[in-house]
Amino acid sequence: MNEKVFKAYNEQIQAEFYSAYMYLAMSMDMEAKNFKGMAHWLYVQYEEEREHALKLLKFMQERGAKPALLPVEAPAADYGTPLELFKKVLAHEKYVTSRIHAMYEVVLAEKDYAAQVELQWFITEQVEEEANASDIVAKLEMAGDHMGGLMIIDGQLGARK
Ligand code: FEO
Repeated sequence: MNEKVFKAYNEQIQAEFYSAYMYLAMSMDMEAKNFKGMAHWLYVQYEEEREHALKLLKFMQERGAKPALLPVEAPAADYGTPLELFKKVLAHEKYVTSRIHAMYEVVLAEKDYAAQVELQWFITEQVEEEANASDIVAKLEMAGDHMGGLMIIDGQLGARK
């Protein structure tokens, strides 16, 4: 693994662990605000982000590199209303997409063909991540301040596997 690719992978592992940490904080915030279904959805998201980090980490190991674990910043504790929170989720996933695309540019320039194939999984995954967040934001916008609507959405998100 060349130096630029190594650096990009390490930094993305850090970003995925930060995402995990942020979703865990979001889950705790929704739990405290009694939106248990949203808290569950966010907890599952936390687990997915951890898996993303580990997938990158294992790929580095398979390529004979030893990943360096970088510091992970503490996330915020309060994310406001469910709509405010999920708008932050959407903005965050768009940011992650831009990072993955930048990383893809690096592996293209460095002619790392194996990394190109591996990162395609992440490019596809980001399309789904943004679509899911955008769908939830749209539903929450429709519900507005109507508690009945919010409770229905909470129940739907609570069913996430
Ligand atoms: Fe690891 Fe939400 O992208």
